[in-house]
Amino acid sequence: MAIERTLSIIKPDATNRNLTGKINAKFEDAGLRIVAQKRIKLSMEQAGKFYEVHAARPFYGELCEFMASAPVVVQVLEGEGAIAKNREVMGATNPKDAAAGTIRADFALSVGENSVHGSDAPDTAAQEIAYFFSGLELVG
Ligand code: CMP
Repeated sequence: MAIERTLSIIKPDATNRNLTGKINAKFEDAGLRIVAQKRIKLSMEQAGKFYEVHAARPFYGELCEFMASAPVVVQVLEGEGAIAKNREVMGATNPKDAAAGTIRADFALSVGENSVHGSDAPDTAAQEIAYFFSGLELVG
């Protein structure tokens, strides 16, 4: 399988509970390398642009407010089949459906406050990485 990169976000519910290290350990234990990482505080506008694809959904306002409510850690994860592997490590969007041992099963509070975001396909991974990182910040 090809080496891929994917965009990951550790969300406010997890940074608030000091879970960054525990979540990063799950990525690294699964063979994903954190090749770029920074802690930032999103504005409502920045969160809204990132989640623009969900703008028509009823939870969009709540989602943007939550993502702008406290710092997030944005990261680029690299590895063989990294996009699918990261989605496996995260578990299902709703923690009630997430498999045992996944990040969302272990840490998420609800479908909205679900601790992590991960890109869902190669084209969105490329767009989402470029939204937060310049080429100079990706050191491999
Ligand atoms: P994420 O992978 O970041 O992509 C979109 C997010 O919308 C998703 O994770 C959830 O956190 C959020 N989301 C999806 N469904 C709902 C919902 N019904 N209510 C609130 N937030 C939701």
